[in-house]
Amino acid sequence: MVLVDVVEGVPQGKALDLLEAMPIEKRDVAIAGSNDYAATANSDIVVITAGIPRKPGMSRDDLLHTNYKIMSDVVQKVVAQSPESILIIVSNPLDAMAQAAFRQSGFNRERVIGMAGVLDSARFRSFIAAELNVSVENVTAFVLGGHGDTMVPLARYSAVAGIPITELISPDRLEQLVQRTRDGGAEIVKYLKTGSAYYAPSSAVTEMAEAILKDKKKILPCAAYLEGEYGISGYYIGVPCKLGAAGLEQIIEIKLTPEEDAVLKKSAAAVKELCAVIGV
Ligand code: LAC
Repeated sequence: MVLVDVVEGVPQGKALDLLEAMPIEKRDVAIAGSNDYAATANSDIVVITAGIPRKPGMSRDDLLHTNYKIMSDVVQKVVAQSPESILIIVSNPLDAMAQAAFRQSGFNRERVIGMAGVLDSARFRSFIAAELNVSVENVTAFVLGGHGDTMVPLARYSAVAGIPITELISPDRLEQLVQRTRDGGAEIVKYLKTGSAYYAPSSAVTEMAEAILKDKKKILPCAAYLEGEYGISGYYIGVPCKLGAAGLEQIIEIKLTPEEDAVLKKSAAAVKELCAVIGV
C-alpha cells in the first residue's frame, strides 16, 4: 500500500505509523509513503481523496473549481503509472469529481467508482441503531442519489433484522434521521472546523476495495456512471452496485415510488449542473 501526498514528510510519516501497527493488527502489508507517483506504479486500486475539505458553513459544491484542478492533475499522474487500475473517488463534490475522473482517465465506467453511498448509509444506520437501541449489525439501509443536500435515504429499503424501519420509527422522527444523514458530513465539519470526516469515509472505502480485491460480488450503494439506468444517462449518481474483481460489475435497478424517483431525478439534476460548470 502506498500513500501519496504533495506535502513532504506527511505520507512518509503516516505510512510508517500504519506499518508499525501491522504486527498488532496481524497483517503482513508493505506500506510506504511518497511524494512521487512513481511509487504507486501498477496499483490494482487507487483511492483518490485529494482536494481541499470544507470549512464550517461551506457546502461540498463550494469546493468545485479548486478540487477539479487538483483531480485533473492527480488522475493524469495516476493513470500514467497504473493504466489497469480501478479508481475509487472520494474527493468532493463527489459525483462531479467522479465524473471528472471518468472523463480524464479514459477508463470505462467499470473502473471509475465514487464512494458516497456506503458512507451515507453507514451514517443513517448509526442513527437508526441509536434511535432504537439495537446493534448496528441489525440495521441495513440504502442511501441513493448524489452525495449532497439532495441525497436520497430510502427508508422503505431500510430494515432492522429484516423488519422495515417504517414499522418501527414514526414518519416524523424518521424524517429527522434522514435530515441528519443529509447533514452528516457538515455536522462533523462544524466540530472539526478544519478538515472533514476521516474514519467513516475510510471504513467505507475499505469495504468497497475489499469487495473488489476479493471479488465478493457485494451489493453496495456507490456513485456510478449511468447509461439509461433509472432513466438517467451520462451522469454519476449513487445507485446500488455490484462490486467484484472487474470493479462495477452491475447496476441493480430497484423499483422506486414516484416520490423517490422525483428525488433521485432532482439529485441527478444537481449533479448535472455542477458537471456543466466544469465542462465534464
Ligand atoms: C463527508 C465527506 C467525506 O461526507 O464528503 O464526510
